[in-house]
This record gives sequence, C-alpha cells and structure tokens, in this order.
Amino acid sequence: MSFELAIDWPTFLTTYWQKKPVIIRQAFPDFQDPITPDELAGLAMENEVDSRLVSQTAAGWQVAHGPFSDFDQLTETHWSLLVQAVNHWHPAAAELMQPFRALSDWRMDDLMISFSVPEGGVGPHLDQYDVFIIQGAGRRRWRVGNNDVIAQHSPHPDLLQVAPFDAIIDEILEPGDLVYIPPGFPHEGYSLENSLNYSVGFRAPSGKELLSGFADYVLAQELGSRRYQDPALALRDSASEVLADEAEQLRGMMTELLRSAEFTPWLGEFLSQSRHELDIAPPQPAYQEDEVRQALDEGTPLYRVGGLKVLQLATQTFINGERFSDADPAFLRLLAQDLTIEAEALQPLIDDTTTLTQLTGLINAGYWHFAGEEEEEEET
Ligand code: SIN
Ligand code: CO
Repeated sequence: MSFELAIDWPTFLTTYWQKKPVIIRQAFPDFQDPITPDELAGLAMENEVDSRLVSQTAAGWQVAHGPFSDFDQLTETHWSLLVQAVNHWHPAAAELMQPFRALSDWRMDDLMISFSVPEGGVGPHLDQYDVFIIQGAGRRRWRVGNNDVIAQHSPHPDLLQVAPFDAIIDEILEPGDLVYIPPGFPHEGYSLENSLNYSVGFRAPSGKELLSGFADYVLAQELGSRRYQDPALALRDSASEVLADEAEQLRGMMTELLRSAEFTPWLGEFLSQSRHELDIAPPQPAYQEDEVRQALDEGTPLYRVGGLKVLQLATQTFINGERFSDADPAFLRLLAQDLTIEAEALQPLIDDTTTLTQLTGLINAGYWHFAGEEEEEEET
C-alpha cells in the first residue's frame, strides 16, 4: 500500500513548519488504515516493542507499560493504547512515513500509533518535537493551544501534562485528516468513538544531547589528549584570577575539537542511530555472494529494515550509527535513497566484486532483506 499525501510542501514549510499548528483536511484522501487495532494490540504484547496504556479512572490518570499479556480488564471508555516505532515492526504502517521523507530522513523519528476508545487520550500536554498526527478509523476531537509558556505537571509519575488551555484549533478529525503540531504547542485529543491515530514524529537534538554525544565519541576515539600550555604565563594581580585570555584559550581547546575533521564522522554516526530498537534478524544460514547474485538475477527486490537510518553527509555515508566507507558512490546513493531497491538497479553494480561483498555483508547483518523472506520464515 502506498500513501499519497496531498500537501503543498513549499507553502507548508513557509507558513506552518515550526511556526504554528494547522489542520489539513483530507491530507490522505480515501485513507485506509494499514494496521488493525488487534494487530496494534499484538505488537504491544511483544517484548521489543515500546507501548503504554493510558487511562483515566475515578482514581485519576493511570499508566501501564507493555509488554502486555492480555487486555481483559479494559473498560469501554477513557483509555488509549500507544505503541512507539511501529514503523520498525509493521512494514505496511511504515509506508505512511514515506511521504514525510520529503522533510529529510535525519529529522524523522518514528511512527507512533494509538488506539483510543471514546473519551480516550493522554490528556493535555506538550511535545518537544514536531508531529504530524493522522486520523485513521474513527473520529477524534483535537484541541491545540498557543505556544505561550505553560507549566507542566505530573498527574502520574509517567505522565507529563499541562493545565487546561485556550484553543486556537478545536476541531473533529475524520479519517484521512491530519493535524501538524510544532514543538511547544499544548494539545489534547479525545476520541468520539474507537479511533486510530498515526503520529509521525520528528527529532530535534538539544545542545546537551549533541555535546554529550560528541564527548562520548571523543572518549571512545581517544581524541583531545593535547593539554593546555602557557609558555607565556604572565603575573597577575591576584592569585585567584583566571585571566580572560586563559579562559579563551581553554574554550579554544574545546571548539578546536568541534571544528576538527572528527566532527563530520561523529555527526553522521550520531544522527544515523535509531532511537528505538530495530527488527534485525540476520538470515540463517547467512547468504553466500552467489546466492545474492542469483536472487537479483531473478528480479527480487531488497527491502531496508524499518527505521534503519542511512544518511549521507559531506562525502560520507552512515548506516545505523556506523560509517560505511570505501564503497562505490552509486551503490551508496542507492542504499541511501530508496527503502526498496529494485534488482535491476543493483545488478550492474554487483559486477564489481567489492560491491557484491559489501551488499552481502549488509544482508547478512540483517539491514536489508529480500522481498518474500518473512513469508518463507513463517512457513518453516
Ligand atoms: C495520541 O495519539 O493520542 C497522542 C499523540 C500526541 O498527542 O502526541
Ligand atoms: Co502530543
């Protein structure tokens, strides 16, 4: 299933992106849910999948974390089941992210899917990330407030909410409608009936995360061992003083590291890491190179595992947190561009034995797999 998103990206970026929320009616005309509530519940029973159940009871807000063993105790109203990174586990649902690749792969985070019964929702809250929330089956009322500074509180240790807010958007979404919410705009969704919502979330690292990520890299690579030197040490008025020049030199030692040639490889590794577990299942037995060649000769396409990030930065390519260097640029572009790689596109490239070896390595790592592989696995 492929999804056509009716959006004028240039206008959207100029008017709304990171500026204000907007509802786009029938952004996905004739929207068909790629997943059923039962399938979503099944995913929430898996160990590797991150899920939670948020409910509102007479005793207040409750949060339970998956994996769930059953859903027997649920009431008819006032709860919502939320499953993170469904794009990693459910290829049909992952297709929903494809139209948003227009905004760049590194900014994209994951696809969170919620199933809510009437009156179900997580309450009024803020997110740190841009999010596109698509309405699937059912109808849900969405209220969005302005991004005034607004205090957060925890009605439950695992829930961060905001106080009631005045709405600048207050509308009922129907299947195929979409609401875009920039970071910091309070919002709340309440279901009118059983309802599926798809949240395509975007990541935006903080300075803190960047600095600590870079510091980890500096330690791992044993960089930055040059020490402070002061052959021109000057006398000062007071022993307690740190001179401005000295402080500047120390700051310079830090910025020198950030400006060094190491910044790009670190950034590529950092940004290409997935924040959620990937469904990596290396093939057993491993593929031989001639088997890869044969599958491509038969026209079998290759699929990238859901959520795997392949990024290109300067002249370098990064796959899942690792630099993938010394490869044919045409091969790298193919890996980076399309989530499905057609056999015909790869065939001319694997005449080069290095490329065939590298491709076989990526398949054996479980990063790409041939179409139809899962079905075969299920049969055996
Ligand atoms: C939901 O689908 O209920 C939550 C989406 C969100 O508010 O971020
Ligand atoms: Co939210």
